[in-house]
Amino acid sequence: MKDNAPLIQLEEIAKVFNVGQRAEPHSDVTAQSQRLVPVRALNGVRLCINEGELLAITGPSGSGKSTLLHIVGCLLRPTGGRYLFKGRPVESLSEFQLARLRNRNFGFVFQAFNLLPRFSALENVQLPLVYNSTPRYRRREMAQKALEQVSLSHRSHHRPGELSGGEQQRVAIARALVTDPSMILADEPTGNLDSESGWSVLETLIELNRAGKTVVIVTHEQSIVQRMPRIVKLRDGEILP
Ligand SMILES: Nc1ncnc2c1ncn2[C@@H]1O[C@H](COP(=O)(O)OP(=O)(O)O)[C@@H](O)[C@H]1O
Ligand SMILES: [Mg+2]
Repeated sequence: MKDNAPLIQLEEIAKVFNVGQRAEPHSDVTAQSQRLVPVRALNGVRLCINEGELLAITGPSGSGKSTLLHIVGCLLRPTGGRYLFKGRPVESLSEFQLARLRNRNFGFVFQAFNLLPRFSALENVQLPLVYNSTPRYRRREMAQKALEQVSLSHRSHHRPGELSGGEQQRVAIARALVTDPSMILADEPTGNLDSESGWSVLETLIELNRAGKTVVIVTHEQSIVQRMPRIVKLRDGEILP
């Protein structure tokens, strides 16, 4: 890492999706005559995120929040601009290098918890360790520790169906944490929860930030936005001043 470089530095980031569109609904079109229509999801986004920050990305539906989070987390490549991670350009990385950067540095939390229903909380949390070839004898202990960090040690043998929504999302947070990433990226993590469970999930994310993780939360919930020390507002793919 270059000294003093921000964790994340985005410069003039653009993302254009080419979406297949049928011509007039009544015209007799074949697949070959489908045209690709560009959808500009992000346009000239500049953003720096420093190690240890807690920030919200907010904005109306369709404003580009998920696209931005996915680019930050290297799940998507931008179609324009520059992305420096710890001072190093990401665009020059191969797919393999990009996947390694992603697996080592980012933990993702999604709106739908995406837990495997037949597995216990402890087994769900261990999954990323299976994929990154952590020796079997260490996985259980690391997963226990991640569950402790979200205050769910006492639920480790429960399956998702035996947990409340808020607890399931905290298991998902533990799963994001278990590889000890530098950053937690959460896309509408409280979107499927009642307000009380939502608060417990938010508290957990805030607590992790206090413990040193960089945390980015995408949300359009005003009550959450108000608690964030830094707010990035998106509208039509651009950051509002
Ligand atoms: N995979 C995709 N293919 C085509 N268009 C997409 C894709 N993902 C997002 N978009 C479009 O990009 C824009 C921003 O989407 P998104 O980032 O999901 O917004 P938000 O998360 O703020 O609701 C929308 O117009 C959306 O339809
Ligand atoms: Mg979204």
